Amino acid sequence: MSQTKHLLIESIYQRTIDRTPIWIMRQAGRYLPEYIKTKNQAGGFMKLIRNPELACEVTMQPLRRYSLDSAILFSDILVVADMFNMNLRFEDKIGPIFDEPLRTESDFEKLPSELDVSNLEYVNETIKNIKGELNDSLPLIGFIGSPWTVATYLIEGNSTKQFSFVNGMLKENPGLLSRILDMITKGSVDYVREQIKNGVDAIMIFDTWGGLLSGDNYEKFSLNYIQKIISSTYTEGVPVIYYSRSKSNFDKLKNLDIDCIGISSENNLGDMYKFFDEKFAIQGNLNTDILKEDKDTIKKGVIKTLETFPFETGHVFNLGTGITPDIHPDKVSYLVDQVRELSVK
Ligand code: CP3
Repeated sequence: MSQTKHLLIESIYQRTIDRTPIWIMRQAGRYLPEYIKTKNQAGGFMKLIRNPELACEVTMQPLRRYSLDSAILFSDILVVADMFNMNLRFEDKIGPIFDEPLRTESDFEKLPSELDVSNLEYVNETIKNIKGELNDSLPLIGFIGSPWTVATYLIEGNSTKQFSFVNGMLKENPGLLSRILDMITKGSVDYVREQIKNGVDAIMIFDTWGGLLSGDNYEKFSLNYIQKIISSTYTEGVPVIYYSRSKSNFDKLKNLDIDCIGISSENNLGDMYKFFDEKFAIQGNLNTDILKEDKDTIKKGVIKTLETFPFETGHVFNLGTGITPDIHPDKVSYLVDQVRELSVK
């Protein structure tokens, strides 16, 4: 745990702050020319992730350009598959691909019975490198995907938006789905413990596809597994941020032991804060597309977003979704400076 008071952590714990902290989902990514250069030098996205020096380098790149309030580990939610020896590859314009997806009992039987977190040793090395570079000047966010969101990729085998295999399994073989979710949960517990041991200052859980599940199924197939990970890895002073892209269905989240909830642009920050009885800090939620507009429009967007959270603390400024490759880096610079200036308490 860090000895320094970091604005990000202070705001998540709803302590006194003098302005709103800001970081950006996918802040190290394809919109930065230096990222593209380093990725090519590494020989592609997976090779970049598996190279602790270069993964550290791309983590630091946005921090050199902008006055951001946090670093985020450069990796991907799907690397947990390394613990089950499922081979992950990425293709340009397609995204992640598992050539042998998990769709049947016999696919599942073929996986190793013991999970091996040492297959993710390269992430520990990356974290150590980043912590060394940061030297406690900024906090570092570590992360995992929710077991449900990871499972959608393992079962579909790619980034399809149809979700026909996972929906089919939900209906026809929920027992197999539960076993897959148990396996990912077990691996994620080990993996989160490693990340914390190596020094991450917060853990973010991406439940990008939690919104596919309705009502009781959301609780049964996503939130229960997330809670299990949180209960098994709780470390004082290392807050948990939950990210949901849902527009509704937030009732069940009230029971989750999280500290902060990241929301997309469809929801209102202050309304969400009240909805959760001021129990969770709120992260978000400027619409990423506003960064395609001129400075005046960006400024208005910042003002509007800040106005939706009229409280002294408990807001972490971010976009509603990850930044996209079509954004000009100078727009981000302007955004960060505006948030720093306009949010002074
Ligand atoms: O935010 C950061 O800067 C940290 C690194 C990070 C990445 N992915 C790097 C990445 C994080 C936290 C993620 C999370 C992630 N990965 C999620 C949850 C958040 C979300 O976006 O909803 C999901 C669903 C994934 C899986 C994934 N990774 C997909 C579907 C894709 C392809 C499509 C896309 O969004 O780009 C990726 C690729 C990926 N992950 C890239 C980066 C920088 C782009 C890869 C490239 O450079 O070619």
